[in-house]
Amino acid sequence: MNARTTVRVPAKVNLQLAVGPLRDDGYHDLVNVFHAVSLFDEVTAEPGAGTTVRVEGESIEGVPVDGDNLAARAARMLAARLGVEPDVSLTIRKAIPVAGGMAGGSADAAAALVACARLWGVDPTSPHLYESAAALGSDVPFALLGGTAVGTGRGEVLAPVETVGRFHWVFALADGGLSTPAVYAECDRLREAAGVRQGPPQASPDLMAALASGDAEALGAALHNDLQDAALSLRPSLAATLAAGRESGAIGALVSGSGPTCAFLAESEERAVSLAASLAGAGVARSAVAAHGPVPGATVI
Ligand code: C5P
Repeated sequence: MNARTTVRVPAKVNLQLAVGPLRDDGYHDLVNVFHAVSLFDEVTAEPGAGTTVRVEGESIEGVPVDGDNLAARAARMLAARLGVEPDVSLTIRKAIPVAGGMAGGSADAAAALVACARLWGVDPTSPHLYESAAALGSDVPFALLGGTAVGTGRGEVLAPVETVGRFHWVFALADGGLSTPAVYAECDRLREAAGVRQGPPQASPDLMAALASGDAEALGAALHNDLQDAALSLRPSLAATLAAGRESGAIGALVSGSGPTCAFLAESEERAVSLAASLAGAGVARSAVAAHGPVPGATVI
């Protein structure tokens, strides 16, 4: 049993998000190439009375501070599976953009699982963690794993991908979030309006080859997000953000997940820093931050 545990957990960007047709359960089959990047939230778990959550950080409007918070739900779910009382006080320090398409809420849930497991003396490799993660949300298992991985099913069935080297990114953060269900629904609507009959999602061989060889230029050319048109339809201003990044030398640009964060790949760390400065100065984003990937998943610090 431990008195206080802090877990650091990364954001993700989707290098490829291939979205299949709508399933009967309201989800879509995906090929989702997740990549964990060095933008981190921290979750601290301490013994408490019942499950409580405190959230700290800039731009945290909209994050629930009650039992609806995904980290609190994670703690309660793990406690129920283990047959222990869900007595934990959670403090979340947020740096991952809220409702930004970078899986910040899922990251906090994964971190809470790892922190509570430690607090309650449970082996971090226990299947209860992955099973709770998959039940909590499609992106939560990846936040436990980190690195780069292909997610299939609704995104929760993971296969790690070996990559070479480090990739340098810039993330343009937007004012306000986008609702993930609304973006998926817009994707379905646009496809129906265009008469598209969607086949099963397929992994991109070019993307996999670029990851295996560490070729940033090839990776930039292979980035693809099937939700991008839907995110642009709901937030047309993102087109100017993507264009500004490309004009400032990004070797790849796409909307991250369901948006509205835009992700840009740079040739080097130096280029990423200068690209972040140009984007921040161009008035096309609330702020822009440089980061790198891949990085490990939820880790006790
Ligand atoms: O699994 P999660 O709760 O994160 O999913 C949020 C929403 O995103 C779902 O309710 C659904 O509308 C959409 N979604 C989807 N297909 C997926 C994953 C998510 O339609 N594979």
